[in-house]
Amino acid sequence: GDTITVKTLAEKMRINAGEVIKKLMELGTLATINQEIDADTATIVANEMGFEVQVKVELDKEAQLMMKEPEDDAENLRWRPPVVTIMGHVDHGKTSLLDAIRHTHVTASEEGGITQHIGAYQVEHKGRKITFVDTPGHAAFTAMRARGAKVTDIAIVVIAADDGVMPQTVEAINHARAADVPIIVAINKIDKPGADPEKVKRELTEYNLVPEAWGGDTIFVEVSAKEKLNLPELLEMILLVAEVGEFKANPNRAARGTVIEAELDKGRGPVATVLVQNGTLRVGDFIIAGVAYGKVRAMMDYTGRRVSKAGPSTPVEVLGFSGVPPAGELFYTVEDEKFGKQLIDERFTKKREEEFRLSAPKISLDDLFNQ
Ligand code: GTP
Ligand code: MG
Repeated sequence: GDTITVKTLAEKMRINAGEVIKKLMELGTLATINQEIDADTATIVANEMGFEVQVKVELDKEAQLMMKEPEDDAENLRWRPPVVTIMGHVDHGKTSLLDAIRHTHVTASEEGGITQHIGAYQVEHKGRKITFVDTPGHAAFTAMRARGAKVTDIAIVVIAADDGVMPQTVEAINHARAADVPIIVAINKIDKPGADPEKVKRELTEYNLVPEAWGGDTIFVEVSAKEKLNLPELLEMILLVAEVGEFKANPNRAARGTVIEAELDKGRGPVATVLVQNGTLRVGDFIIAGVAYGKVRAMMDYTGRRVSKAGPSTPVEVLGFSGVPPAGELFYTVEDEKFGKQLIDERFTKKREEEFRLSAPKISLDDLFNQ
């Protein structure tokens, strides 16, 4: 059956591995940090530590087919905005950069309406749109990838010019590479007295990120989120990489994409921010994400404005889900509502069979055994 190492289990719970080993000992199992333990033991340990465990529901055959079919003919593909994520070490300026870009390039009228909790927005540069997704962190990025979700087209690795390459910088580079996503290096905080962009470049050669001026093929942009320096240049480079990547989708088909985040809103019920990755999502569509489903009741764009449809690379808030789908879950729409409900029924049955539950805790360890 499925197994997981003590180390991985501990990481997933963000708990010291020693604690897990101690708990296992209490349960009568002597284990080392790299030892594989079975799903049941892991579930018991996790439950004991106050976590809810959900074993990931495997996509049924029909669902798999629906996710894949039909392939789009080249002639139906259209340019779509690139989806960009900003990653980097703590305090190197990820949030500041996201904010600076948003404040500089989102029109003032839109600005006031931006909802704080929606983790994605779009800007326009020279008539072309760019979608920024604020991934909640590297762990979330990895988790999404584990689910087979590929949300990002381009990764911006932010490095503070006064600090240089740090452990999470390397992590960010590795994440981007594992996901096969092109990297743009943004050397930030160049306004600071101690800034040394050249040193950052030298350090990065060790990781095979070499500027074009030095004979490499990595794009570097020196920016200051604080002073809003070179932000148009950064956007320019994003569009350049997008041009090369030829990111395309077919707007004229049933929508599919990924859940970015979701929550239960007191007044509005389950609210999910989704990124449409192919097709066009419309109000009234029957949508499925894991075991959450429903008719799309309303949609809001990143400014909070109601929209009736959302095409490829558009982040949008969706109301109408029966439950809260987990971040990273794939969504798609089905034309035949009856078929959709049948699919959901099957999934529920499967889920019930496979699931262990404990009340109270909020964090779930879904896809724990599907790494
Ligand atoms: P975490 O989310 O905690 O990982 O940090 P972050 O990468 O999002 O960094 P954040 O944007 O919060 O910035 C960290 C600190 O650096 C803040 O005090 C910012 O004001 C400052 N900062 C960010 N960008 C710049 C910049 O371009 N110049 C200067 N001087 N300070 C900056
Ligand atoms: Mg931040």
